[in-house]
Amino acid sequence: HHAELTLDPAFSVGEIDRRLFGSFVEHLGRCVYTGVHEPGHPAADADGFREDVLDLVRELGVSVVRYPGGNFVSGHRWEDGVGPRERRPRRLDPAWHSIETNAFGLGEFMAWTRRAGVEPMMAINLGTRGIAEACDLLEYANHPGGTHWSDLRAEHGAKEPYGIGLWCLGNEMDGPWQTGHKTAHEYGRLAAETARAMRMIDPSVRLVACGSSHSGMPTFGTWEATVLEHAYDLVDYISLHAYYEERDGDPASFLASAVDMESFIESVVATCDHVRAATKATKRINLSFDEWNVWYVSRREEEGPPTEWAEAPRLLEDRYNVTDAVVVGSLLIALLRHCDRVSIACQAQLVNVIAPIVAEPGGAAWRQTIFHPFAQAARYGRGEVLRVEPSSPVVKTARFGEVPALHATATRDEDGAVTLFAVNRDLERPLDLTANVRALGAYRVVGHQVLSDADRLARNTAAEPDRVRPRTVTGTAIGTAIGTATGTAIGTAIGTATDTATGAVAEVGLLRAKLPPVSWNVIRLA
Ligand code: AHR
Repeated sequence: HHAELTLDPAFSVGEIDRRLFGSFVEHLGRCVYTGVHEPGHPAADADGFREDVLDLVRELGVSVVRYPGGNFVSGHRWEDGVGPRERRPRRLDPAWHSIETNAFGLGEFMAWTRRAGVEPMMAINLGTRGIAEACDLLEYANHPGGTHWSDLRAEHGAKEPYGIGLWCLGNEMDGPWQTGHKTAHEYGRLAAETARAMRMIDPSVRLVACGSSHSGMPTFGTWEATVLEHAYDLVDYISLHAYYEERDGDPASFLASAVDMESFIESVVATCDHVRAATKATKRINLSFDEWNVWYVSRREEEGPPTEWAEAPRLLEDRYNVTDAVVVGSLLIALLRHCDRVSIACQAQLVNVIAPIVAEPGGAAWRQTIFHPFAQAARYGRGEVLRVEPSSPVVKTARFGEVPALHATATRDEDGAVTLFAVNRDLERPLDLTANVRALGAYRVVGHQVLSDADRLARNTAAEPDRVRPRTVTGTAIGTAIGTATGTAIGTAIGTATDTATGAVAEVGLLRAKLPPVSWNVIRLA
């Protein structure tokens, strides 16, 4: 069972925008309250931000955080969340059938982003609100002073403007579940005119128009084309959202989720470029994949919406297993493979709600399985993506037909260090991978880490938070001359290096690695 690929720095997909490693904080369940913000928690700072969560956010390597929604934003009044806390209103949040206290708002979020070292990505309400409120918010956030809203910001303690550069023009406006759901024409016009007005106030803003909520939407394709026909010149990005889960006892299709993600990306790129050609535009619209993850939506459908109106209820608190982490790794590979057009991506969400980080109220914060592929991709996926075209045996799936068992990409950072990210989708068989790295020159393996487990459903828990984590592949060695190498190795001299574990022969400049079934692998070369 053998797969092959070639790494050659002459073939590059493009530069990686750091905003590919973004995340998402929504006022939903316990993401904000008892997630990032819990005054009185032993680890909370003077602002009520949980330091234990902040440490994990920094370890995760998140670059940009989208806020405050999500479905929440389409009924949200941003003014509720600024100014003296005791005067902030309690409101019904229709999107999540919850009570919003507004104890955390724009000012708290901006302070938190600075502590976390992340860039803010602000979503505006184009569901129940429109151009005027978007302009008010932009004036409050970015105008230096001397006007009603900018002076109010200073009065609220923020003399300097926030300078928020990245803005989402609403959320999932194609979805009938969205408060203020619109047709493509209605939304396209509103997005265009909101964008025009926002640019008059602050020409430096970068704007994301809503694309489809997922590739299965009945309006997918025509929605993007129509919205861009109205707004092409006025926006910079179009959004994509996608969630995947293991359904119907079919893990093979689930492990191939990135096939859907890649075809989704390619279809949206084609649609953007169609509008570009048709409107004779010169600029390109790039993609903001600003919600993606594994999410067990079917569990929520079974449970139904909450019946009580409660503050920060436990909602969408999925617990992730090994297979989920491998799929998340594969989705990261899909994003990297398309880094020439995907500029921004936000894993949804950051804490507690379908999240890599769990924070118990009054208790500990810990890493779910899906934390690890994200952290490794954010840490090592730097510089440029190399064009990698593997040849691989296939696995049969009910949903996608035959798909390659190997899903892979590679990055090369500013110092020339190369990282190969590889997923073996096969449920039973390990893959013997041979990578031809001759074009790189004299490189050696500096590490091979794998996330896999004899039990592909193993999870981390509060009691055992490190049950699933990446492990260094034992027996890894490098062939340095005529002689032997074990495990993952590159033959580095004329002659052969022998993998004593498998008896395989590694020729000069060939890296050989064994990828366990259902595994996420990070192989670093320098
Ligand atoms: O991330 C959870 C929800 O998924 C978001 O609020 C919404 O935008 C999407 O449907």
